[in-house]
Amino acid sequence: MGPQAASRPRTLSERADELEERMLKELDEKIATKSLLFTLADGTREMEGGAALMAKNPGKYFLMGHDPRLPKMPDKPTLLDFFKYRFAGMPINHLLQSAKLALKAGHGEKVVLACLLHDIGVAGFIRADHGYWGAQLIEPYVDEEVSWAVRAHQALRFFPDEAAGYKYPDAYLKYFGPDYEPEPYIVEEYKRARKHKYYMTARLICVNDIYSFDPNAVVSLDEFVDLIGRNFRQPKEGLGFDNTPSSHMWRTLMWPTRFL
Ligand SMILES: [Fe+2]
Ligand SMILES: [Fe+2]
Repeated sequence: MGPQAASRPRTLSERADELEERMLKELDEKIATKSLLFTLADGTREMEGGAALMAKNPGKYFLMGHDPRLPKMPDKPTLLDFFKYRFAGMPINHLLQSAKLALKAGHGEKVVLACLLHDIGVAGFIRADHGYWGAQLIEPYVDEEVSWAVRAHQALRFFPDEAAGYKYPDAYLKYFGPDYEPEPYIVEEYKRARKHKYYMTARLICVNDIYSFDPNAVVSLDEFVDLIGRNFRQPKEGLGFDNTPSSHMWRTLMWPTRFL
């Protein structure tokens, strides 16, 4: 940079270049590691040991904090920050559109929040067993009715309840084929859920779950900020640092490539 360039304010693209350079340099100095789960997803059961990775990367230490390839999160992250900096685009649309549908149908705030968070497992974490992961993630921060419903929707969506306005989704016929049958544990979960006092809340997640949704219809998270404020107990220390049974899950989302 010449003396002239130094004296004038940097343009946006110059600042972006500098940021990218700094991020690459940071990563250049550290080794980001993939947990076994990430390689299982590629169909391989392989994980390199620490010594082998160090031998391949002489002079470097393992990454133990923020991964510079990902957006940096605030020190005391909120649910909205996770929506903004971690969760993936398309599943977010799905959540917002489902919540909007529930809102339009005149359901109460717990139902709307349950719809807004029902696939938080998919949006932020993992598809398999996503209802269970999602419920566990939010459990310390929401009414038990909300987390119960998020957990139960995992099973209920495979079983129609025409009286409640829910038929087996056409999308599932397409996704899984006409012969697909849920695992026995899902059948058992369904039977238990039917008798539960919050059954209808979980069922309403399914009813408002949009299966063939419009990728162009944009619902803003802003519409739900007040509702989240009233119904999601944001810890003052930030999600991940508040010592609840799911704090570690939020931290892993925030820093997924730490060595330990
Ligand atoms: Fe789901
Ligand atoms: Fe869904």
